[in-house]
Amino acid sequence: MVWTLLCLIIGHCSSRTLAMFVRVRSQQSHAATRTLEEERPWTGQESLAQDDPEMWDLLTKEKDRQCRGLELIASENFCSRAALEAQGSCLNNKYSEGYPGRRYYGGAEVVDQIELLCQKRALESFHLDPDKWGVNVQPYSGSPANFAVYTAVLNPHDRIMGLDLPDGGHLTHGYMSDVKRISATSIYFESMPYKLNTATGLIDYDQMELTARLFRPKLIIAGTSAYARLIDYARIKKLCTEIKAYMLADMAHISGLVAAKAIPSPFEYADLVTSTTHKSLRGARAGLIFYRKGVRSVDKKGKEIMYDLEDKVNFSVFPSLQGGPHNHAIAGVAVALKQAQAPMFKEYIAQVIKNSKSMAEALLSKGYTLVSGGTDNHLVLVDLRPKGMDGARAERVLELVSITANKNTCPGDKSALTPGGLRLGAPALTSRQFKEADFVQVVEFMDEGFKIALDVKKKTAKLQDFKNFLLKDPETVARIANLRHRVEAFARPFPMPGFHDH
Ligand SMILES: *Cc1c(COP(=O)(O)O)cnc(C)c1O
Ligand SMILES: *[C@@H]1O[C@H](CO)[C@@H](O)[C@H](O)[C@H]1NC(C)=O
Repeated sequence: MVWTLLCLIIGHCSSRTLAMFVRVRSQQSHAATRTLEEERPWTGQESLAQDDPEMWDLLTKEKDRQCRGLELIASENFCSRAALEAQGSCLNNKYSEGYPGRRYYGGAEVVDQIELLCQKRALESFHLDPDKWGVNVQPYSGSPANFAVYTAVLNPHDRIMGLDLPDGGHLTHGYMSDVKRISATSIYFESMPYKLNTATGLIDYDQMELTARLFRPKLIIAGTSAYARLIDYARIKKLCTEIKAYMLADMAHISGLVAAKAIPSPFEYADLVTSTTHKSLRGARAGLIFYRKGVRSVDKKGKEIMYDLEDKVNFSVFPSLQGGPHNHAIAGVAVALKQAQAPMFKEYIAQVIKNSKSMAEALLSKGYTLVSGGTDNHLVLVDLRPKGMDGARAERVLELVSITANKNTCPGDKSALTPGGLRLGAPALTSRQFKEADFVQVVEFMDEGFKIALDVKKKTAKLQDFKNFLLKDPETVARIANLRHRVEAFARPFPMPGFHDH
């Protein structure tokens, strides 16, 4: 490469010299491959198992882990084989910076159609009028989608408000600690959190209103990652109108529930809506930004003020923040959005909510405490503090018995390392055809795990001692192995979406 460049710069390089050089180089590299492998030349058509047995082995191990375990991480799901096929396709190869019909590269006629199809399905899936809403399907994931919205409608250091991370918000909603600005949202913009009422575990709207009137944010985010209740979008919209702020609804966790019309839609109130596509929506991993079009408000003289979000969002996603769109992801999302419009998906989401409620009731009947007392959506947040337990220890024991869930802060928690709560979601296991009674059994297994955790906690001091003890104490090791075998024997027979072996 350097040689080629040098030739071009000096201008002494005949095309014959160049051709010779290329021939010599390619002979050298062929020789190297042959001596290394003594085999056929590379075609690029080898399977993963042939081409890279080490990676294939890891992939099959992960597939096995997913099949034998109980997946309760509320943000996870099992994507369909169809969507994964689109995601793992030749679309990976195509560069198409720009938007359909206005690309910076040739050969985009097919990916143009794919992106337009994805846009159409995204609007249909959320029952939106194309005259009132547009959608950008290019964001790489949920976090980039949020940052693109901020970049679109805010100037650096403009003010925003979002639910605090320890209260169930998301990092990208402006999280900063006492000593450090953590999320880029808090580095480039000024963020002020709103919080949960510690007594009820519900969003403290009164405090949000008081703070907003003082802080005067330019954007308020309505959206959560660990909140088991519904959001009062109407109330947040009223506040936004009063203080002339944009309202962004981040429905990353609940977009499947919104598509199925199982919970109130943020689209009735928000100016902008962002989402991930791989959580309850069960698609390929990506992000979406919906923006309003048409009349935003009418001024005192009766003049209509129009939304100008379309240009701003387009420009923000490309060229401000991203380069080439992930066409393979866009196609995988489009496939999932078609599924999301089928009656089957409505049934799936209805079952997710039934299962979540079944899990909540089973936990309550065993004497566990739930933040906010129950659930209206796909997840429950268990407060383990009244049982003398914490989320970190519980998470570790469950992990050792093949149940995956994550520790989570509860209102009033002091430490983020050993928070009091555990977040449990129903979307993934419901995709494996789990029903209410199966979730009661899942709670039985978790309860056994929590009991092991309590016994070990009594015998150990620090978190690290606890973790060491779990692996070293013979009686505990045996109890964990026994429970893990029963969990795996229970989980494995349930069907699993996706490819059968990877
Ligand atoms: C998951 C999530 C995101 C971020 O999505 P990534 O794809 O992980 O970047 C943003 N907002 C909320 C509310 C989320 O739950
Ligand atoms: C913005 O992008 C969308 C999605 O590709 C496209 O349909 C629309 O024409 C673009 N709008 C503008 C104003 O560039």
